[in-house]
Formats: sequence, structure tokens, C-alpha cells
Amino acid sequence: MTTIGLIGSGNIGSTVARLAVAAGHDVVLSNSRGPQTLQDLVSELGPKARAATPAEAAASSDIVVVTVPLRAYQDVPAAPLAGKVVIDTNNYYPERDGVFTELEDGSSTTGELLQKHLSEARVVKGFNNIWFEHLRSLARPAGSADRSALPIAGDDAAAKQAVSELFDSLGFDTVDAGPLAENWRTQRDTPVYVTPYGAFGELPGTPASAQVVREALAAAKLTAG
Ligand SMILES: NC(=O)c1ccc[n+]([C@@H]2O[C@H](COP(=O)([O-])OP(=O)(O)OC[C@H]3O[C@@H](n4cnc5c(N)ncnc54)[C@H](OP(=O)(O)O)[C@@H]3O)[C@@H](O)[C@H]2O)c1
Repeated sequence: MTTIGLIGSGNIGSTVARLAVAAGHDVVLSNSRGPQTLQDLVSELGPKARAATPAEAAASSDIVVVTVPLRAYQDVPAAPLAGKVVIDTNNYYPERDGVFTELEDGSSTTGELLQKHLSEARVVKGFNNIWFEHLRSLARPAGSADRSALPIAGDDAAAKQAVSELFDSLGFDTVDAGPLAENWRTQRDTPVYVTPYGAFGELPGTPASAQVVREALAAAKLTAG
């Protein structure tokens, strides 16, 4: 079993934590306001969960999920994440995050921004293209006929393998979308973003197989954001 750190424990962070605890992993939750504000979630999750600061969550975990509003990505502590596998869920919404010119002009991707900030970490883009409620509702055991797949992107093959194994334990297959420079294929408003898993706001969602995800990735056209 693996210890999963959460930097950000909101919609996506808490959903990943719930799936991880259900799969038998330990989780260390964190947010911007301090561990004392996460006690209700820790109580709900039980003895496999605890809350800490972002730096403590980073230092004490095998795989760390960075799941904060993109505007806050530079607050993520770099030193304790050196050498670690980091899953980046962040998406760019300029009305929330402010304008990032390198995303507007397509010269960088959200994953590359975090990798540049966490220069010694092994960043893998993942969990960013699915609405958190569908992440919860579409998790299935390995071998299920209606299992969904999630795309990942990253520059470190071993890190991608570790993330693929984690996703498998949480209830999802994985499709490799290439290096972080190709992470534009999974960003906002691309074919693989949200809709393959059903309409935003509608439950229970629609399972999307690895083939569906592969076809959506191939259909993506490079746009800003
Ligand atoms: N919502 C979705 O369905 C979905 C799906 C895929 C990807 N995403 C992306 O994933 C990211 C998180 O989305 P979300 O919906 O989970 O957001 P959210 O519900 O607003 O939660 C954000 C979390 O980040 C924490 N946070 C904010 N600033 C921080 C900082 N400087 N240091 C540490 N923690 C900080 C917040 O803690 P405090 O409350 O203490 O500030 C909160 O726990 C976003 O980039 C989003 O675009 C969202």
C-alpha cells in the first residue's frame, strides 16, 4: 500500500482521498488554512487518514497529488517534493486564476508550469479531465466491462508507471497521452475534457473506455488555455 499526499483537499482532493482509503492506501490531507480545518474529513475517512501542512504532506507521502487552483501552484513547496511522483490535476480558468500568457499563446501547458516550479519532482498530469463527481461514480474494479480510463502525461516513464498502478488500484485504466508538452491534449475544452464521462452536473456519468479516451486524445487540436 502507498501513502498518498494531497496538497489541496477540495472537490478533487477529497474525492481522490476517499477512493484511496477505499483501496487501502493511507492519505495525508492538506490545504491552505491548516490541518485543524480538515478534521471533519479526517474523521469521515477514518484511521488511514490524517491532516498536515502541505510541506508535511509532501514529505511523508510516496505519491503527492497537487490539486489547488492554478493561481496557487507556486505556493506548492518544492523542496520536500524533490524526486517524488507528483500528480497535477490543475486546470486553467483565467476568470479564477488570472491570465497566464504562456497558456493563452499555447507555448506551455499546465503540467509544464508545475514541472518548472517543482524542477526536481517527477510530474505526471492526471485526474484533470474528469468532473470530481464522475471520478467518484465511475470507479470500477479491475476487469469490469464498464471500467473507464483516464489519460496521463509526463516525462518520466517510471513515474507514469507508478501513477498507472495507483489509478488501477483506485478503479481506472490509464491511457498515455505522451510527454508534458502534449498535455494540451487533455486541457480544458479538448475532446477528452469532461464530456466522455457524461455531461457536467449529470450523474451517474458514462463509462469511457481506453479506446474512447485514445480517440478523443487523437482528435484534439492545439488551442490556447
Ligand atoms: N472540480 C473538479 O471537478 C475538477 C476536476 C478536474 C480538475 N480540477 C482542477 O483541480 C484543481 C482543484 O480543483 P477543486 O475543484 O478540487 O478545487 P477546490 O474544491 O476549490 O479545492 C481547492 C483546494 O486547494 C486548497 N488550496 C488553495 N490554495 C492553496 C495553497 N496555496 N496551498 C495549499 N492548498 C491550497 C484549498 O484549501 P483552502 O480551502 O484551505 O484554501 C482547497 O482544499 C483546480 O485546478 C481545478 O481546476 C477540478
